[in-house]
Amino acid sequence: MKFIPVYKPDLSGNELKYVTDCIESEWISSLGEYVGRFERDFASLCEVEHAISLANGTVALHLALLLFGIGPGDEVIVPSLTFVATANAVRYVGAEPVFVDLDPQTWTLDINKTEQKITSRTRAVIPVHLYGHPVDMDPLSEVANEHGLHIIEDAAEAHGAKYKDRVVGGLGDVGCFSFYGNKTITTGEGGMLTTNDDQLAEKARFLKDHGMDKERHYWHTEVGYNYRMTNLQAAVGLAQVERFDRIFARKRELAVMYHEKLIDCPGIELQPEAHWAKSSFWMNSIILTEDYPLSRDAMRESLLEQGIDTRPFFIPMHQLPPYLDSNPDFPISDRLSERGLNIPSYPTLKDVEISRICGAIMELSGE
Ligand SMILES: Cc1ncc(COP(=O)(O)O)c(C=O)c1O
Repeated sequence: MKFIPVYKPDLSGNELKYVTDCIESEWISSLGEYVGRFERDFASLCEVEHAISLANGTVALHLALLLFGIGPGDEVIVPSLTFVATANAVRYVGAEPVFVDLDPQTWTLDINKTEQKITSRTRAVIPVHLYGHPVDMDPLSEVANEHGLHIIEDAAEAHGAKYKDRVVGGLGDVGCFSFYGNKTITTGEGGMLTTNDDQLAEKARFLKDHGMDKERHYWHTEVGYNYRMTNLQAAVGLAQVERFDRIFARKRELAVMYHEKLIDCPGIELQPEAHWAKSSFWMNSIILTEDYPLSRDAMRESLLEQGIDTRPFFIPMHQLPPYLDSNPDFPISDRLSERGLNIPSYPTLKDVEISRICGAIMELSGE
């Protein structure tokens, strides 16, 4: 029985050719033609003016917060259900993440609850396009404008997803992407910061390279960072972007197939997609309701015994030791986290494998 992982990258295009070119040409660090080519193609994919390549998605978030001078005494609004990097980046600059529950219709930031958490210290909000589904950005932008907040999109999981025909990553002040091995576009490890603002782009390029003066070598006017991406990583990224449309389309096809096969499965709730959204379905997700005969973790074990790997949802931030909340009120995040399961979602997953996965889920339901 063939093992089906939750994710694996599709590296079947020009990845090897471009990486070989880096090795043969000896351009393996952050100077080299692939960095600029990948940045240009990624900017065009996101329909933004600037894409600045970085070492990973976490440092993209860190840099974004630095760009707005956010620091000690400031508050930043973050959804309670996300990957921990979103909250950690806020702490890196000495600010405090303030958590907000999710909207049950989209599994992303609840905009009304966001407004209730704004104080005189709030400086920014980080909408996370969780599992590839965009946040309802228009009402969020209205709230942010009214209160003078910066919007930093965490689009780590949502490459190419659309909000009302606009691509994520260009909907706030800056966008942050991850290219970790399980992301829709991968470079192994890697990240990108996107923006339409020339000054922010220039500042990001300055800070990611140790704050070095553009004209004068080794003249550093500020404490900067080494957050650069290598030419090797960018070579993989460029080959990935070249095939982005196909990868994205296949991932949406997987979502349609899962939906068709599981829609009538008792005790299973499927991932929503709002009418205004085009999700990237980075992960296909199911929720095991109270009617499902097994707990989420028992189901994970049974699927694993049948050679099918899965992942539980993230644990909400307010339950993690660095961010513990003594009086938590995040019922949607808690429910999703307790009952949510990510099922295999990689672009080379075959139709017969989806049938096998759905058959196993149906059988365990007692149907
Ligand atoms: C929502 C979210 N934000 C940030 C990150 C951090 O990205 P990276 O792992 O590239 O540092 C990730 C992913 O891994 C993520 O899923």
